[in-house]
Amino acid sequence: MKRDEIVAKAKDYMVRTTLLSDIVPAEEGPVIARAEGSLSFDTEGNSYLDFNSGQMCSTLGHNNPRIQKVIEQQSKVLTHASTVYYNMPQVELAERLASINDPPLRKSVFGESGSDSNEVAVLLARRATGRLAVGALTQGFHGLSDSTRAISYSAATAGYGPPMPEVFALPTPYCYRCPYKTDGKGCCMAPLHFGMETLDRQSAGAPAAVIVEPIVSAGGVIELPVEYLQGLRKELDKRGALLIYDEAQTGMGKLGKMFAYQVYGVRPDVLTVSKHLGGGLAVSAAITTDDVAERASKYGFSTGHSHSSDPLACAAGVASIDEIVEKDLPKRAIEIGEHWQSNMRALAQRYELVGDIRGRGLLQGIELVKDRFTKEPATQVAADVYRYSLSHGLMFSVRGKFKNVLRFVPPFTTTNAQLDQAAEILESGLRRAKG
Ligand SMILES: Cc1ncc(COP(=O)(O)O)c(C=O)c1O
Repeated sequence: MKRDEIVAKAKDYMVRTTLLSDIVPAEEGPVIARAEGSLSFDTEGNSYLDFNSGQMCSTLGHNNPRIQKVIEQQSKVLTHASTVYYNMPQVELAERLASINDPPLRKSVFGESGSDSNEVAVLLARRATGRLAVGALTQGFHGLSDSTRAISYSAATAGYGPPMPEVFALPTPYCYRCPYKTDGKGCCMAPLHFGMETLDRQSAGAPAAVIVEPIVSAGGVIELPVEYLQGLRKELDKRGALLIYDEAQTGMGKLGKMFAYQVYGVRPDVLTVSKHLGGGLAVSAAITTDDVAERASKYGFSTGHSHSSDPLACAAGVASIDEIVEKDLPKRAIEIGEHWQSNMRALAQRYELVGDIRGRGLLQGIELVKDRFTKEPATQVAADVYRYSLSHGLMFSVRGKFKNVLRFVPPFTTTNAQLDQAAEILESGLRRAKG
């Protein structure tokens, strides 16, 4: 089928959603036909350096051979199974997840998406504590099911709501634009204290949990300062509330260790993983401690979907973990991150537009500003650079509160030459935008 025909059929038969790009409309953008490693190809044969890793789910590289092999083998044995009995790949995946986590994080519940894993995490916290109130960051994103939309303040969409009750917004420690900045060190403690005070009042002093992304991804690749995480951990411990990390974007080796909590040294009570856990297949998990699991189960922990123990996806999950561990991919994530950041620092020297460089490993961002002093967001430039890059073979996303943060998630398979090629495309885009 030709490109125009596919687009015409899509317009005819598919419901438009806001997930589609608002910079280059899907009707004008590429129709993806195939992919391999760090490259995606459209129906016209054009190639793209895929610095979105698909939808961040092909971070092992598109069509990873190990995943292909396990799909072939498992599909001949058992693709789908009942959720009311155990199956082998499901139990194996739970064991593997325990082996790559630090104790006491060792018990898993499975799902199919980032959204449902976060719903499960909130549910675990509510059941285990017997409380309801949940805090989440103003720039966080945890999914687009109705209950995760309710804790995704950065994705608040006009006309939606009312949200799930007993959820409360906490200020994001966004150091680059900290409104509380007092010139002193540790200004990120101000959002922590304001947030906790508000949460205490709103929850009558008894919150169930706070959920955060260790690097707030869609909110603009904002790395939460370690002292914020340490402080949050302490404050929640004081209240008997749980700390949940949404590691959809930071987990499974992307930041240089298997999980972000191992990078920052502040452990959550529940963490969620999804995205490339299945090496490109849909599987997610909420992982917690024996204590939280037992408390939740005691009070009737009801969750699960028809596909939430699918042996095909779980077998892919096992293979994906083996690939990350055996090939020491976290080490490659550090190398890619350092190489990319040195490219970005070189760009920042030549273009005032680059206001801030953020992120780690395979989750990187640059914030574009019109003026480094006023930090006025360069939203239009970001859109122009995106458009230019897409038409010259580089895919990434534009995120953040002001839609001025370029986010890059290259797969582990990306070579240094590909990183340099991407930086050159970006530079041409910036040069053009600057006029
Ligand atoms: C941090 C984070 N959590 C949750 C989600 C939702 O995942 P899904 O789209 O698989 O439901 C996303 C999606 O991008 C995400 O970035």
